[in-house]
Amino acid sequence: MAGRIPRQFIDDLLARADIVELVETRVPLKKAGKNYQACCPFHTEKSPSFTVSQDKQFYHCFGCGEHGNAISFLMEFDRLDFPDAIEELASHCGMEVPREENKASPQEQKKQQQAYQQKQDDYQLMEQISRFYQQQFKTATDKDAAISYLKNRGLSGEIVKSFAIGYISDAWDGMMKVFGKSYTGNQQLVDLGMAIQGDKNKPYDRFRGRIMFPIRDKRGRVVGFGGRVLGDGTPKYLNSPETRIYHKGNELYGLYEAKKANKQLSRLVVVEGYMDVVALAQHGVNYAVASLGTSTTEEQLQTLFRTVKEVICCYDGDRAGRDAAWRAMDNALPLIRDGYTMKFVFLPDGEDPDSLIREQGQTAFEEILDNAAPLSKFIFDHLLARVDMQSLEGRASLVDSFQPYLAKLPSGLLKDSIITELANNFGTATEKQLAKFRKNNADKPQKLIAKTKNKVTPVRLAIALLLEHPHIVNALPDSSVLQHVELPGIGLLNQLLQLCRQAPNIKSAQLLENFRDTTEGKQLAKLMCWQHHVDKDAAEDVFLDCIEKMLNSFVEQRTEILLQKAQMGQMSQQEKHELQALLNA
Ligand code: UTP
Ligand code: MN
Repeated sequence: MAGRIPRQFIDDLLARADIVELVETRVPLKKAGKNYQACCPFHTEKSPSFTVSQDKQFYHCFGCGEHGNAISFLMEFDRLDFPDAIEELASHCGMEVPREENKASPQEQKKQQQAYQQKQDDYQLMEQISRFYQQQFKTATDKDAAISYLKNRGLSGEIVKSFAIGYISDAWDGMMKVFGKSYTGNQQLVDLGMAIQGDKNKPYDRFRGRIMFPIRDKRGRVVGFGGRVLGDGTPKYLNSPETRIYHKGNELYGLYEAKKANKQLSRLVVVEGYMDVVALAQHGVNYAVASLGTSTTEEQLQTLFRTVKEVICCYDGDRAGRDAAWRAMDNALPLIRDGYTMKFVFLPDGEDPDSLIREQGQTAFEEILDNAAPLSKFIFDHLLARVDMQSLEGRASLVDSFQPYLAKLPSGLLKDSIITELANNFGTATEKQLAKFRKNNADKPQKLIAKTKNKVTPVRLAIALLLEHPHIVNALPDSSVLQHVELPGIGLLNQLLQLCRQAPNIKSAQLLENFRDTTEGKQLAKLMCWQHHVDKDAAEDVFLDCIEKMLNSFVEQRTEILLQKAQMGQMSQQEKHELQALLNA
């Protein structure tokens, strides 16, 4: 199934999709005139400057400048790459994505094809290994030990199954015996972190004598494993290394399962361990995920806040837990827009979510979650503990210590409330410093709007009008009228004229798609957002007017040049004819 997605399909897809309907599935929109509006999902703001146009099939934020068509929206909002965004949009529209032989050099084509095949193969192999580990509860000679281990930890067969938890006995070749059948097969197992190439010829099992937790990506594909020893061996947990399909900073253990168990997820709890996630689900808290390293990365937090509006971080109450929480908070700050919250729970010494929920049950645990400390309290507690609040200097340095964190936080209610609290409690020493924060805190959409303003030239206006109303190309008897005209931007205009002529029903969003990731694309997007105030009804006339102006100014320029040449006696025969024609026109 490899290969490029045909251009024609992308056009058809954009023609079928409705951007308003699509955006609405992720951001509630309000009708405003002929467009739709919302507070921008890509930056924090209090009044809506995010605009979606049904006519243009295009969105644009006058605050932060984000813009694009339905595909761009999915890329940005769902954090998908281009092919995945197309897949997502196609499934939204009930269409299947075809692939074509691509136009890359045969060598490159082959490489792309191989890389694609390789990954498909990798996912399949990982899935098979995961199934194999699961089967071990039925077939392993020491299966009883594994089963009673999980039973002792309070897990039901149902939960074990829903997390696809498995087992592998302690042997060098438990998995290799089944999967390591060829030289290239062995290499693949090593590449995927499932086997280790030692000094001997044949690689051996990385995971031995462990309960196996498959790590699934957003789409449910097994990309790695965590394995826990049954007894007291070390390391307690062994994890897959980074591989071509597993990047631990991007994945969250349990997210796929949480999404599957909940049609409408409203909050997610971030915990430290695999076992915590599974034990919580066992007791009805089926919305926990574990970050797969010591700190929660920005990518993981972004995924979390794209999925829910409330994230509760649940950490050990010890030093290490608090440090981990602080790092997570620091990474999350830029993402806390209005309407989003991050909260913190610190567990009593010696407890983790697993032990706590087993002792106290779902209700008690959820009560703890409901009473989690908001981010602002966490910041205050943490920073206050570091300064001497008795001295004026100490109090002043407290405000300074807030600076880097406030700077990362987008403008909004949370930032306002932190500043207010600082002012209320530490007012006298700090008025001046706070004034600075307030100033930095003000939204600056004015400047950004100015950036999208364009000088009016006939070429620019013609492009803007054509983008908005592609059918006006039909007003031109011949789309090559400007072929010989030389003006800035004329090449792009000619390209657009041709595209519009070739596809009579083309829409703005499709036109723009032809220029994805090019400088021209950026210029066009800017022109698309330009508020030139030319009515729909007047568009055709103004467009023709622009064309005429271009022709005229070209004639003037050209005449001028030819006259100069004539004066200097440097004219060719051909140029003489041209000048004559121009003067007679
Ligand atoms: P903990 O040591 O807190 O273990 O590690 P736990 O989750 O309570 O495990 P159980 O309950 O004893 O089974 C928390 C997380 O840190 C990572 C794992 O992701 C684990 O879930 N970890 C821990 C490792 O990667 N390797 C280790 O050796 C230990
Ligand atoms: Mn534990």
